Amino acid sequence: MSEFSLFKNFDDLDQESKYLAHKAKEAANHAHAPYSKFTVGAALILEDGSVVTGANYENAAYPSGMCAERVALYAASAQHADKRIMKIAVVAKKKGGKELVPASSCGPCRQVMLEFETNQKKPISIVMQTDENTWVIAPSAASLLPFSFTKDNLDIHHKK
Ligand code: THU
Repeated sequence: MSEFSLFKNFDDLDQESKYLAHKAKEAANHAHAPYSKFTVGAALILEDGSVVTGANYENAAYPSGMCAERVALYAASAQHADKRIMKIAVVAKKKGGKELVPASSCGPCRQVMLEFETNQKKPISIVMQTDENTWVIAPSAASLLPFSFTKDNLDIHHKK
């Protein structure tokens, strides 16, 4: 069974997680969130130490928008194909606000994390603030998506 690490204080996080949260906070400043006024930033670190960031980009045609996590994941894949993603941090701010507010990755972002995790065959840790006084490090995307749908479901008939 997976183990979630819970922290009552941001300062209690490990150095790398704090650094990624800091980069994610910077990235949130580049969000385009005029509709929700909820700016999100994500920062991930690759096996070679490179950091790739993303922010949420909304659109007047609402479903065309994209979450910060997926922007970062797709950018990392486009720019650094085949490098393992070690960890991703996600943070949120109200537009114009200074303080972080909780933001737990949405289901579709978890599903996309799982696809990357499955492909690289190594877990991705996820750092997020789940409520005012709680930061969580999840050990993997799989831990956030029990009974998940993966490519194994699609392959099942071919294996028979
Ligand atoms: N959002 C993210 O970027 N990541 C999440 O995990 C949760 C939601 C964005 C999508 C939308 O632009 C705004 O936050 C409000 O839902």
